[in-house]
Amino acid sequence: MRTTLIVGNWKMNGSLPGVIELVESIVAGEVKNARFAICPPAVYLMKVGGMLDGSEIALGAQNVCDRESGAYTGEIAASMLKECGCRYAIVGHSERRALYHESDELVARRFAMALNSGITPILCIGETLEERENGDTEEVVSRQLDAVIDSQGIAAIAHSVIAYEPVWAIGTGKVATPEEAQVVHKNLREKLAALDTRVAEQVQILYGGSMNASNAGELLSQPDIDGGLIGGASLKAADFIAIGQSV
Ligand code: PGA
Repeated sequence: MRTTLIVGNWKMNGSLPGVIELVESIVAGEVKNARFAICPPAVYLMKVGGMLDGSEIALGAQNVCDRESGAYTGEIAASMLKECGCRYAIVGHSERRALYHESDELVARRFAMALNSGITPILCIGETLEERENGDTEEVVSRQLDAVIDSQGIAAIAHSVIAYEPVWAIGTGKVATPEEAQVVHKNLREKLAALDTRVAEQVQILYGGSMNASNAGELLSQPDIDGGLIGGASLKAADFIAIGQSV
């Protein structure tokens, strides 16, 4: 049985006082029917990690460097994230792929670096509106997933989380219907099952894209949707907790 995982991706939002208040409210409101993780901006990881001590809410990073250490200005090593207490690292978010030109290969290397450092990668995949309208959804998400499987092997997927995030639904308020999302999640699981049934059964596949307290219940009731990667709605403690409550 896969547990439900609700991950908050705060992106580049907040301020130190705001972050402290948000974490305090999330910790106070935590419910037990889902697991939670929060991914604050990197500069706040250490602070938030300390505040999460003693709670069951996990800490995650929004990205991780594909190199161990050295002259990579602006990047953050997996070992550093580990020191901050990160259990998860998002890799391949569509904003990274689109705005910072991260290729499937680079994302696969970031994935590997997290995994090899004992951090669970949350691999984001998803199609643009144009790709969906052209009927290319399956092809796109398969290609993005294959880049990781081809380089890391199917067994690596068992130690990761996959987040299906249709790009057209991210930050737009335009959520995929539960049925639309379930079709993609089911196909992804079947694709994995063709390689390894146990991995397919185990791996959590999250949905992301305008998930909020009012649509989460229906999305999370789909058999192959195991949680959510939440952007906007994770910035308000009550909304974020309510998503976990709707399981
Ligand atoms: P959103 O973002 O919930 O604001 O659509 C989701 C994400 O980017 O992970």
